[in-house]
Amino acid sequence: MSESRRPLIAANWKMHHLRQDASRYCRELLRGFPPEIAADVVIFPSFTLLVTVAEGLAGSSVAWGGQDLHTEPKGAFTGDISGEQLADLGCSWVLCGHSERRRDHGESDEAVGRKAATARHFGLKPMICIGETAEERRAGATQEVLERQFRAAVAQRPEPFALAYEPVWAIGTGETATPEMAQSTHAFLRTLAARVLGETASDGLRILYGGSVKPANAASLIVQKDIDGFLVGGAGLDPGSFSGIIGSSGPGL
Ligand code: PGA
Repeated sequence: MSESRRPLIAANWKMHHLRQDASRYCRELLRGFPPEIAADVVIFPSFTLLVTVAEGLAGSSVAWGGQDLHTEPKGAFTGDISGEQLADLGCSWVLCGHSERRRDHGESDEAVGRKAATARHFGLKPMICIGETAEERRAGATQEVLERQFRAAVAQRPEPFALAYEPVWAIGTGETATPEMAQSTHAFLRTLAARVLGETASDGLRILYGGSVKPANAASLIVQKDIDGFLVGGAGLDPGSFSGIIGSSGPGL
């Protein structure tokens, strides 16, 4: 396994928290943070909380990022956020193509690819989200859907990026893929990445799992060969449970 596949653990706050929650969260997270931590940690707050989180995490090893960005670098796009504006707030990462954006905002596979490329243009690392719905899995179309989403997302070669595999049926439902099920999909994605990007890029690619990850199931998922970290929703809203996931996710913790 490549050295670059250090565990990467991310919390996606979605549309939760106010400024005082965000400040308290950062204080509590950093208070319990082991200095020798063997994982990279990222928080994805709402845009309105980015300044608060940037202040709360300043000087720590925890990074932050936006939950979305526009495909275009700037312009007349009311209500949207550009990659440059995120970079201006010290973001290192940005989520691209989360299933809730695809579902609620009609984000196409092609738009996700353009977002990932725009993120790179501004020095942000895209965390590209892909995943099949329950119907697609039932229809036996999981691999076909993931391949289509992946190829479109990386069409403009937005390296370095991380890939988050999030089966839509496991997001916010309490239903997690079993470690074996997740591993077999991750192995498929790594083989696909080797075909599309080459062996070296595939070997170094961090493939995160997302969908009802909790302190209780994190350890059994992270030991899988091709699972390199997590994108956490609900359990990432509380610094205690997020720390529990971080703690069970990195070797040497
Ligand atoms: P969940 O969300 O952990 O609440 O299932 C994961 C995600 O949407 O990234």
